[in-house]
Amino acid sequence: MTILVTGGAGFIGSNFIYYLLKEHPEDRVLCVDCLTYAGNLSTLKEALEKPNFRFFKTNICDREGVYEIFEAEKPDIVVNFAAESHVDRSIETPEIFLQTNILGTQVLMDACRKYGIQRYHQVSTDEVYGDLPLDRPDLFFTEKTPLHTSSPYSASKASADLLVGAYHRTYGLPVTISRCSNNYGPYHFPEKLIPLMIANALNDKPLPVYGTGENVRDWLYVEDHCRAIDLIIRKGTEGEVYNVGGHNEMKNLDIVKLICDALGKPQSLITFVTDRKGHDMRYAIDPTKIHNELGWLPETKFADGIQKTIKWYLDNKPWWETIISGEYVHYYEKMYGNR
Ligand code: NAD
Ligand code: DAU
Repeated sequence: MTILVTGGAGFIGSNFIYYLLKEHPEDRVLCVDCLTYAGNLSTLKEALEKPNFRFFKTNICDREGVYEIFEAEKPDIVVNFAAESHVDRSIETPEIFLQTNILGTQVLMDACRKYGIQRYHQVSTDEVYGDLPLDRPDLFFTEKTPLHTSSPYSASKASADLLVGAYHRTYGLPVTISRCSNNYGPYHFPEKLIPLMIANALNDKPLPVYGTGENVRDWLYVEDHCRAIDLIIRKGTEGEVYNVGGHNEMKNLDIVKLICDALGKPQSLITFVTDRKGHDMRYAIDPTKIHNELGWLPETKFADGIQKTIKWYLDNKPWWETIISGEYVHYYEKMYGNR
C-alpha cells in the first residue's frame, strides 16, 4: 500500500509518518509538504533514511505538481494534514488559510478523482463545532453537533469539511473525516500553547496567558491521534466523520502552572495578556463513536504525556532553538510585543 501524507513536515503529520513507518513497515509512505514556516525537514531526518519513504517539496495548491506526483506514485490512500493551523495567525492574515485549507483540499480531492484512490482522509478539528460554555460541563461535541465556527482558521477547516462531504455525495469519492481535539507531544511548533510555555519558561521569559486563562482545551497525546487516523483509514466507514478526543479537559492556566512546576520555574513568570479575539471558551469531544465502531481509546494519560513532552523539549533543544531564533523572532514581537 502507498500512503501519501500531506503536511508531513509539521507537528502531527510528522508524528503520523513515524507512526506508519513503525507500525506498517510494509507500506510505502510519501510526504508532500511545501515547507512553510511551520514545516521543518530536519523533523523528517530519520524518515528520509528509510527506503520506503519519499519527500516531495510541493504545495498542495499547485495542481500540476500534485497531479505529477499522483501520476508517478499512484497512492492508494491520501491523508491530508497540510494546513495553516494557527488560530492567532488566521486572525492577522485569513487569506492564506482559505487558499491552503480550502483550495488545497480541493486540488487533492481532484487528483484523487482523476487518478483513483481507495481512501481520501481529511484531518479536521474540533474547532469546526465552535465552543461550549464553561458552566455546562455536561455538554460535548458529537459528530452531529452543528458546525459553528469562530475564527478564520476554523471557518476554513469547516469549509473544507463541507467540500469533502460534497465530493463524497456528488462524485462518490471514498472519504473519511476526523475531528480531533488539541494535540501535544514532540515536534509541536513553539507558537502553540504548550511548546511556547516550555520554551519561554526554560529561557526565563514571561509566560503570556490570554485573558484570565480560564479557557478549557481537551488535550490528547499526538500518538493517540495518529493511531485513531490509522484505524479510520483502514477500518473506518466511507463518508463518515469520527470525533477523536480523550476526555482530558484542562484550563490553560493550570497547564501553564504545571509546566512551571515541572521545570522548577516560578509561577511569577505568568503574565496575563490581552485576550485572543473571538476566543473559544471550551472544547470537549465525545469520542463514543470511534470507541464503539473502531475500538479506539487513548493510551497515554496526560500526566505521563506531558512529562514525556517536557523531556522531549529538554532533549531536543537544537530543534526548537533553531526555530525560535529565526523568522519566529519577528512573529513573537508582532504578536506579543504590545499585548
Ligand atoms: P502544523 O502547522 O504543525 O503543520 C502543517 C504542515 O503543513 C507544515 O509542515 C506545513 O509546511 C505544511 N503546509 C502548510 N501549507 C501547505 C501547503 N499549501 N502545501 C503543502 N504543505 C503545506 O500543523 P499541525 O498542528 O500538525 O496540524 C496538522 C493538521 O491537523 C491540520 O490540518 C490541523 O487543522 C489539524 N489539527 C491539528 C490539531 C492540533 O492540536 N495541532 C488538532 C486537530 C486537528
Ligand atoms: O482544538 C484543535 C486545535 O487546537 C487545532 O485545530 C489547531 O490547529 C491548534 O492550533 C489548536 O488550537 P488552539 O487555539 O486551541 O491552540 P493554541 O495552542 O494556539 O492555544 C491553546 C489555548 O491557549 C487557547 O485557549 C489560547 C491559549 N494561549 C495560546 C497561546 C499561543 C495562551 O493563553 N497564550 C499563548 O501564548
